[in-house]
Parts: sequence; structure tokens; C-alpha cells
Amino acid sequence: MNELTNNKPGWWKRMTVRLAQIDQHIRGDCWRWLVRWLYKIMAPFYDWGADRLMPDYRQAIAHLVDELAVSASDVVLDLGCGTGMVTLPASKRAQFAVGIDMTPAMLHQLQKKQANGRPGLVRGDVRCLPFSNNSFSAVTTSFMLLRLTTAEKQQVFREVWRVLKKNGRFGCLTGRHETGNAYPTAAEWQSWLEQSGFRNVAVAAYRDVYYLVKANRVLSQHEKN
Ligand SMILES: C[S@@+](CC[C@H](N)C(=O)[O-])C[C@H]1O[C@@H](n2cnc3c(N)ncnc32)[C@H](O)[C@@H]1O
Repeated sequence: MNELTNNKPGWWKRMTVRLAQIDQHIRGDCWRWLVRWLYKIMAPFYDWGADRLMPDYRQAIAHLVDELAVSASDVVLDLGCGTGMVTLPASKRAQFAVGIDMTPAMLHQLQKKQANGRPGLVRGDVRCLPFSNNSFSAVTTSFMLLRLTTAEKQQVFREVWRVLKKNGRFGCLTGRHETGNAYPTAAEWQSWLEQSGFRNVAVAAYRDVYYLVKANRVLSQHEKN
């Protein structure tokens, strides 16, 4: 989010940007509690801050949901769902959506917004998904994988591959590498996903600051036999 400052940042914007910058350098288990602590502080103001720091973020999310062609036959999992900025739009189009996040305060904000008990909320760590194989037809994630090491990202992709149904779709919204070194390059996304078994990997720029990463979970050789 740090690239999205305007010319006259107020105290709130400066503080949020600083927290986001600190957050991007927190990696590994021993610091994970600090991530939760940061999001616990930010949770009540998260949507407000995101709308100001990233004025086109909701449009980018709509683009992600469109590009994944989420429809009434889909069961969608949203990783690191936070306050539900992706989970809620996805759940409106899907048969059902589930958001998973490790920070209770963020899930609490989502719980306050949701109507009719939809979507489902799970407190958990995306590195070890508490779902059976072949549970979802699509998996989304937005601005959360950055905080994981490369090995952890690959672990998450293997988990996503496991919980996706055959021919399931994966879609990820993230920052463009050109806007900051904290964001992986298109080639890195491509290679991590392909190494985890995904095919048809595509990384497309959306507006000035976003990458939309898409991939399909095709049949493995073992499943074909
Ligand atoms: C920048 S927020 C993004 C939230 C939401 N996806 C959005 O687009 O607004 C990152 C979220 O990822 C969650 N998170 C970070 N690491 C996680 C992990 N290992 N497992 C589950 N959630 C995690 C945080 O609690 C936080 O809610």
C-alpha cells in the first residue's frame, strides 16, 4: 500500500503507510503474533484506510472476481480474508464462500458486515488449510501472501492445489513489482505456481499498481491414470 501516498498525507495516512511498511518486513513464525497485533489495531479502521490509500482497490477486486468468472455454481475460498473486501463480493456471486484469516479482530469486522450468515468464516493459518481435498472450485487471495517467505508461499500454493477441485481456478491480487521491491516479479509468481502444479499461469497488470495472477489446477498425472 505504501506506493499509494498522495501529495498531502495526513497523520492517519502516514501512520497506516508506516504500519503497512513494517508489516511487509515481518516474516516467520516468531513474528507472526506481531502481525496479528498490528491487524488487531488496524482492524476497526482497515476498510476506511484501504479506501483512502487505494481508492481503486474495490474496482480491482471486482476485476479479480470477474476474471475468475465466479458464478452461482462456485464454492469459493478467500485466503487471508481480513474484513472481507474480496470475500463479500465473491460470496454475492458464488453458491457459497468461505474466508480464512488468522486475526480474530479482522474476522470480527467481517462478521459485523455479513448478512444471513454468509460467507463462512474460519480462523486459521493459510499455510495449513483446515479443509479436505477437492473442496473448492475457486480460491482467491488479495494482498496477504507478501508477508510469507518464498518457502511458505510455495507451501500455501500446494495447499491451494490440494483443496481445489479438478479444473479449479486460483486468482490473486497483488502489487506490481514495478511499484516496489516488496512485490514479487511476474516471473516469480509464474515459477512458484508452476512448481506447485498449477498450469495456465497468467500474470496481468491491472491499472498502475496491481497484478492479477491467475492459474488453473489441472489434473495431475496420477489423477489421469
Ligand atoms: C493486508 S490484509 C488483506 C485482507 C484482505 N484480503 C483485503 O484484501 O483487504 C492481510 C490479511 O492476511 C491475514 N494473514 C496474514 N498472514 C496470514 C496467515 N498466515 N494465515 C491466515 N491469515 C493471514 C492478516 O490477518 C490480514 O487480515
